[in-house]
Amino acid sequence: MRDVKLAPWRRTGGKGAVIYLYGSEAVSGMYVAEIPSGGSLAPERHIYDEIIYIVEGIGATEVWQEGGKKHLFEWRRGSLFSPPLNRWHRLFNGGREPVKFLAVTSAPMIMDLYRNPEFVFNCPFVFSERFAGEQGYFEASNKRYRKGMANLWETNFIPDVGAAALESEEKKGSGVNITMYEMAGNSMAGHISDWPAGRYHKAHYHGPGAILVGLQSSGYVLLWSKELGLRPYAGGHGDRVVELRWKEGGVYCPPGGWFHQHFNTGPTAARHLAIRFGSRLYPAGFYTAMKRQDDGVVISIKNGGTMIDYEDEDPEIRRRFEAELKRAGVPCEMPQVAYSG
Ligand SMILES: [Fe+2]
Repeated sequence: MRDVKLAPWRRTGGKGAVIYLYGSEAVSGMYVAEIPSGGSLAPERHIYDEIIYIVEGIGATEVWQEGGKKHLFEWRRGSLFSPPLNRWHRLFNGGREPVKFLAVTSAPMIMDLYRNPEFVFNCPFVFSERFAGEQGYFEASNKRYRKGMANLWETNFIPDVGAAALESEEKKGSGVNITMYEMAGNSMAGHISDWPAGRYHKAHYHGPGAILVGLQSSGYVLLWSKELGLRPYAGGHGDRVVELRWKEGGVYCPPGGWFHQHFNTGPTAARHLAIRFGSRLYPAGFYTAMKRQDDGVVISIKNGGTMIDYEDEDPEIRRRFEAELKRAGVPCEMPQVAYSG
């Protein structure tokens, strides 16, 4: 995110770059933008969801509706928030350094459907069910609860994604914590995950468009189409397994219906931020259907979900991980596994 080359962006008044990742399959969009020191971006409103992660700097966002009161909230590096749907908003730089942020949106899908930027950016409709001027709307909330098999956090603001407390989600992998956030009544939501050094997640798949951001430590990801089966190496398809390296500041996006599996080979616990469809409060069918059921990504494929338990995975996956850790000088902390079949 930090190294992407930015260019002047006439519409926003700052600098930016739109990033198209193959796995986003044009359901989610993404851009990185910069607000100059002492400056602000042009006000905008739009009928697509937008979730913003602050990569660098400090500042504030002003939110309002035509003729209404202005709501102001402050943020800094690591903050996550979302301007409510179609509400005017303006981002200000509050520091001496440029502000850099990553935004993930549902703009590609909305643009494809309506094909009219004037409508998308200049529609007067007020979605008051999303935001009706509630006091404290843009403050971190404590509304955390369990829904199905997910840890949900309904909050319209996360002050620092890197420091947010997470709940255990051991079913997703040894030592894994995952908390899902639901923000501003959006169809887009996401989660924050962390897991210890020397460990990795179980593989799983779902619909397209999940943008994943590396926040701490480093490692790699394995991705393969579900058509290749649970054990792609044993099945002779090892050459079609994609391996990506991730690190702090890196962004990647697994295509829909592709197994993906996150490995930590760095010396510290790893942390990821995901911005995606798959809201548990306002589900998007295309994303949810591929999981086959609400909690599909937490349910073993044996039981009708889309996750591969350690005992069902390709033994080559563990061998590769152990070899990578050896090279990195990090001890393997994975539990022993007795392979099925
Ligand atoms: Fe995933």
